[in-house]
Amino acid sequence: MIEVGASILNADLLNLRKEIDKVSTADWLHLDVMDGHFVPNLTFGPMFVPAIKQISNIPIEVHLMVENPEKFLDLYAQTGCQRIIIHAETSKHLHRLVQQIKEYQFEVGVALNPATSLDCLEYILESLDVVLIMTVNPGFGGQSLIVQTLSKIKKLQQMITELDCNCKIAVDGGVNWDNYRNLVKAGANQLITGTLIYNASDAKNSILQLKDFC
Ligand code: DX5
Ligand code: ZN
Repeated sequence: MIEVGASILNADLLNLRKEIDKVSTADWLHLDVMDGHFVPNLTFGPMFVPAIKQISNIPIEVHLMVENPEKFLDLYAQTGCQRIIIHAETSKHLHRLVQQIKEYQFEVGVALNPATSLDCLEYILESLDVVLIMTVNPGFGGQSLIVQTLSKIKKLQQMITELDCNCKIAVDGGVNWDNYRNLVKAGANQLITGTLIYNASDAKNSILQLKDFC
């Protein structure tokens, strides 16, 4: 079964309650946190998580596109989010950071930018719940998927099979009706999408359609 993460980055922020209700069939609410340093954009902070939790039971995953992510773990620990995804590019001590996140009892994910090799995962893959393959350069919604990332997903799937571990593969950015099947065939277990669902006339049903594909 494919999981869907609904990114609220391109939702109508003035109607966030309605926008979150629109995606109630999603498995995850995906919160894109940007700091204006690691990526050239600024978005949400930790206070969004408890606010969203007041109106939705969907588990929240926080995609930290920030430098020094370790500085923010304490803040997110108070919020009730379920999963923290950090970028491999932001840490000199990835193993230590992953362990720190696990100590907070979060599920842990590591994201890789399109140009980042899978090599940095080789010795930590077994500790991860999910690897997030960025299929666009992080920072903005509504971009086109970078096709070279498909072979990266396949390669990661092979690594996971060889290690026989439970790590899932998430893909983030540019997912659309033309490419989602190929992403799943390549090995993606979770599709993270904003534009596709918020542009759809029926977001709930579009999510179910994405999830139904085997
Ligand atoms: C990009 C974000 C993505 C993005 C996905 O930096 O990490 O989560 O919002 O949105 P779409 O579907 O518009 O590419
Ligand atoms: Zn994201």
